[in-house]
Amino acid sequence: SDAVGFVGWRGMVGSVLMKRLEDEGDFSGITPVFFSTSNAGGEAPTFAGVEAGGTLKDAHDLDALCELPIIVTTQGGDYTQAVHPELRRRGWDGLWIDAASTLRQNDDALIVLDPVNRDVIDRGLEAGVKDFVGGNCTVSCLLMGLGGLFRRGLVEWGTAMTYQAASGGGARHMREVLKGFRDISGGVSTELQDPASAILEIDRKVLELQRSGDLDTAQFEVPLAGSLIPWIDSDLGNGQSREEWKADAETNKILGLEGADRVIMDGLCVRIATMRSHAQALTLKLTEDLPVEEIERIIDEDNEWATVVPNTKEATARGLTPVASSGSLQIPVGRIRKLAMGPEYISAFTVGDQLLWGAAEPVRRMLKIATG
Ligand code: HSE
Repeated sequence: SDAVGFVGWRGMVGSVLMKRLEDEGDFSGITPVFFSTSNAGGEAPTFAGVEAGGTLKDAHDLDALCELPIIVTTQGGDYTQAVHPELRRRGWDGLWIDAASTLRQNDDALIVLDPVNRDVIDRGLEAGVKDFVGGNCTVSCLLMGLGGLFRRGLVEWGTAMTYQAASGGGARHMREVLKGFRDISGGVSTELQDPASAILEIDRKVLELQRSGDLDTAQFEVPLAGSLIPWIDSDLGNGQSREEWKADAETNKILGLEGADRVIMDGLCVRIATMRSHAQALTLKLTEDLPVEEIERIIDEDNEWATVVPNTKEATARGLTPVASSGSLQIPVGRIRKLAMGPEYISAFTVGDQLLWGAAEPVRRMLKIATG
């Protein structure tokens, strides 16, 4: 079986990936070789009863990496930036399967989301493409949910207004949000115990604490608990954030659309104080006036994970939230209705686990495709 080098398997995305590989029995089809950036020489882990044996190899040992036909990394963009070009310079022609954004827009790299673009992946493999990269989490979750409309060429343009969870920043970001909630509620715990205490006084104290500089903001720089941050990733200098730019660049690359076929995507990306599911409110301009039932059918039938949530208050509140979607591969899509702008304009809302379809799952499935 193929030897597969894993780098970054201990991190948050890596841990989710290892769990998915175990759950799907994927370790039985490969010979895993585990690398470490910090603990080379330490004991290699055992997943799903499959002993990798021996010790952890050094993730910067180019000779050891070069021996492998496939390398899967969830170590992050800095690692990719440092190691990938060196391996290619040495003539390594193995498959590099990555979750970081570093290589995504390279001409000789593909963005993988096989339920949506298996045709693009297969053509790439045939043409000798060697670099396969998971997409941005919001783009992958969007296309898993509404891919049916995009793949049929039914979308002229779309806006994605996002509600992105702390996990998109990383494990420490999630902890910071929870500590923020703890410290804020701790600051008013006496008042909270008394149902008769004045809410405006509680609110004043909370705000005072949020503005005091006393909360831990090492990761997000400002308090996120009880607030939000309408900017994600770097500033492109044209008023747009890099996260917003990805919506158009990656959607079209995943779908393999060029020139006049491109779908125009733009929007505003917002960080909110949720844990691991990204949500987004969409406005789509369709190319045709389709009945809502037809739109729902196309979305629901596109893949086994997209699930239409009826556009009712009850079903929405129960099924279309980060709390409902976290830990699940299902991508609920709801709030589908015609907007007042005209019969081709629809709204939709979708939510998905940012660590599953947003990160680990496309990478796991690409490995499965690559190892037959
Ligand atoms: N850029 C994403 C976020 C991470 O910050 O939420 C996943 O691609």
